[in-house]
Amino acid sequence: MDGSIDKELPKRLSKLGIVLAADIDFSQAEDIDTGLLVSRISDLYKDYPANEGLKIIDGQGFSRLIAELKSEKVPAPVEISAPTSFSPAASGVRSHFSFFEKKAESTSGTVSDFVEYFNDRLRKIKKIIEAERGSSLNPVPNLEVVSKFPSGRELCAVGVVRSRITTKNGNMMVVIEDDKSTVKVIFMNGTSERAKALFAKSGTIMNDEVLAVKGKVSGPFLIANELIWPDIPIREQKHSEDDVAVAFASDIHVGSKLFLEKSFTNMIRWLNGDFEKKKDLAGKVKYLMIGGDNADGIGIYPNQDRDLAVSDYYAQYRMLFKLLENVPDYIEIFMIPGNHDSVQLSEPQPPIEHELAKDFANSNLHLLSNPTYVNFDGVNVLAYHGASLDSVIASVPGMSYAAPEKAMIEILKRRHLSPIYGGNTIVPSKNDNLVIERIPDVLFMGHIHKNGFANYHGVDIVNSGTWQTRTDYQIKQGHIPTPGILPVLELKSRVFNFIDFNTP
Ligand SMILES: [Fe+2]
Repeated sequence: MDGSIDKELPKRLSKLGIVLAADIDFSQAEDIDTGLLVSRISDLYKDYPANEGLKIIDGQGFSRLIAELKSEKVPAPVEISAPTSFSPAASGVRSHFSFFEKKAESTSGTVSDFVEYFNDRLRKIKKIIEAERGSSLNPVPNLEVVSKFPSGRELCAVGVVRSRITTKNGNMMVVIEDDKSTVKVIFMNGTSERAKALFAKSGTIMNDEVLAVKGKVSGPFLIANELIWPDIPIREQKHSEDDVAVAFASDIHVGSKLFLEKSFTNMIRWLNGDFEKKKDLAGKVKYLMIGGDNADGIGIYPNQDRDLAVSDYYAQYRMLFKLLENVPDYIEIFMIPGNHDSVQLSEPQPPIEHELAKDFANSNLHLLSNPTYVNFDGVNVLAYHGASLDSVIASVPGMSYAAPEKAMIEILKRRHLSPIYGGNTIVPSKNDNLVIERIPDVLFMGHIHKNGFANYHGVDIVNSGTWQTRTDYQIKQGHIPTPGILPVLELKSRVFNFIDFNTP
């Protein structure tokens, strides 16, 4: 803070055209964050017509607001007493980590930006397909040349999926495109086992993804006989040298009435050796990776205020960081934002501002972009909040909110964190930063509020569930979340554990 509240507050409010009356008693607001006050006072005037004259807060209005803020939920002090018998192995081990953030880039959102964005997506994923499949694939240099080949010619074409429809004959027509042309690819609804399998596979094609098709030219069409995704090769598992672990949490939704503070506190007590479950494992935790929707936010969906226990961003984050202050200080905390956090919604999302964590007393907090790669002792984790999982689940047959890991596998196969454009917001910058160019050892997401785990070609896939109980929206949709369950990965043995903190 630059100065005392009686100077700072009038200065910041005057920039918003709000004046404080002379009868205000600033002493009552001494222990309240000035940023929080500015945001709450400006909220009072958010619908105020510009021609209504001066916006003035008088002493009475100010006192009312202070009383309201003081009555709001404040974080209950977490009573943690690390037992003297607890000697965590991780406290004597040095941390080894590095991170590589996918930076948010600016764009003007013009048509040419979109064209460049998709060209970059195609270029990058085509390169991956060629690298993974070797020279045998030999795709045509661009889609314009396809129409120049005579019928009967076998070739391979790579493009971005523009559309997918079932024809009146019951076949599947997929239009792929590049910067030069489009090609209509037909997947026949045939009777042989091979044709049936290929036709079923074509039903899982997503709009905007990049794929390769081998097929035969037939007039204006390419009749497919093979569908190739970039996919990932089978990988050897990497192991850390030290016997340490990383815990994954996400979708904490602090500030929501449905935030499970008790379960979350149990988890923090566990990290301190003050919870009777798998104490050895608790002592191994060296890293805590938090995957977004850390606070519940405000105005994220219509009438959200009815679901909020704390209706201010500043207060929500203050509460979150107050809770996290009890994480032992030898544990490094990494945090990316999600669609509920107070950063831009378009992905890649920049980190949560340090201003919101300024009261956090430990120096072990790393606020990072969404997505980000974090390397923990040689094991590379790709952390992404997972907003694209909604559109993948909605458009691919066989996907569901009950099994987020299945949608995450599809995402890995497509080598793109958000294959379908438009479901979640993406910045159409020159670089498509959501292409999975580097294959991680662990793919970590949240967003679905349901724990999930799988291993695909050697990559561990984990969804960290939530710390919020079932919402009305989830009840209406029939989604059943799995709150209060913490996935913990032992980096040396590469064993995943799921620990339930809902019961003492
Ligand atoms: Fe969430």
